[in-house]
Amino acid sequence: MNEQVLIQTAQAMVAEGRGILAADESTGTIEKRFRSIGVENTEPNRRAYRDMLFTTPGFEQYTSGVILFEETLFQSALDGTPFPKLLADKGVIPGIKVDKGTKPLAGSPNELITEGLDGLRERLVKYKEAGARFAKWRAVITIGDGIPTDYCIHTNAHALARYAALCQEADIVPIVEPEVLMDADNTIEVCEAVTGRTLEAVFDELRRQRILLEGMVLKPNMVVSGKKCPVQADRRTVAEATLRTLKRYVPAAVPGIAFLSGGQSDEDATAHLDLMNKMGPLPWRLTFSYGRALQAAALKAWGGHNVEAGRKAHLHRARMNGLAAAGKWDP
Ligand code: 13P
Repeated sequence: MNEQVLIQTAQAMVAEGRGILAADESTGTIEKRFRSIGVENTEPNRRAYRDMLFTTPGFEQYTSGVILFEETLFQSALDGTPFPKLLADKGVIPGIKVDKGTKPLAGSPNELITEGLDGLRERLVKYKEAGARFAKWRAVITIGDGIPTDYCIHTNAHALARYAALCQEADIVPIVEPEVLMDADNTIEVCEAVTGRTLEAVFDELRRQRILLEGMVLKPNMVVSGKKCPVQADRRTVAEATLRTLKRYVPAAVPGIAFLSGGQSDEDATAHLDLMNKMGPLPWRLTFSYGRALQAAALKAWGGHNVEAGRKAHLHRARMNGLAAAGKWDP
């Protein structure tokens, strides 16, 4: 493990005013996205869509890294340049989603466990050769009747730490993503309690499994009201609850926190990040690692063929979130 490499990469991923584009939708997830715009889910279409995103002029100013799906890591752009090289040449760090998705948790089938540890050490070597310098693993925690159980939180935390240890061994920075879903009808208070329990368990396991905290990036949910909750907390309440929770459970040795958007509106995702950065000084850099909140507008504008409109929409959201990452966004 080369600590210096890990620390430098992690710091570059959360450099001020820049964040991460999560473009690592699996073939199944991109199918859903493409269906919403009536585009067929074929390899050439996936390649053309990612090409549009990654050739957006100027997006690198606000984008420190891109998370790729395995297929994209080994694909070339329309001009023939391998995607990882195209990104690296712009100063954007290529990363790779390495988990294999979720399955029902044995013994608690309404909860999920993330798979993908078997063979991961060997896969990481291949990904590094292809240019990946960081990785992502997403654990999913569901709020509901009697859940999450401690059993689910702990098995997912254990898997996250095992993944992170293998990444660091290979000099690849792990993005550690424990996502508490925001789809239920719970209040923001419940989200705060569950997010706290989750982060406590995750950092406990990371420490036990000897993770270099300075060489990782945390990708958490924000503390929000469940989507189906009749009372929706306002932006300031979300920002305050999220910061309170992070300060309680995330060690200051972690260089940066890059949030997922999780189904928030594009503008909420930007506004929440900006508000939190305005509430500093903070012990870690706070930025974005958005999927939907960076891509939804671009996907719609592109619609399968309109490259210029797609790029324009992508650049706009990248710029807004870049400003928010520096606490300089103006509503
Ligand atoms: P969203 O921002 O759409 O939640 O996606 C981020 C991500 O990478 C989830 O794993």
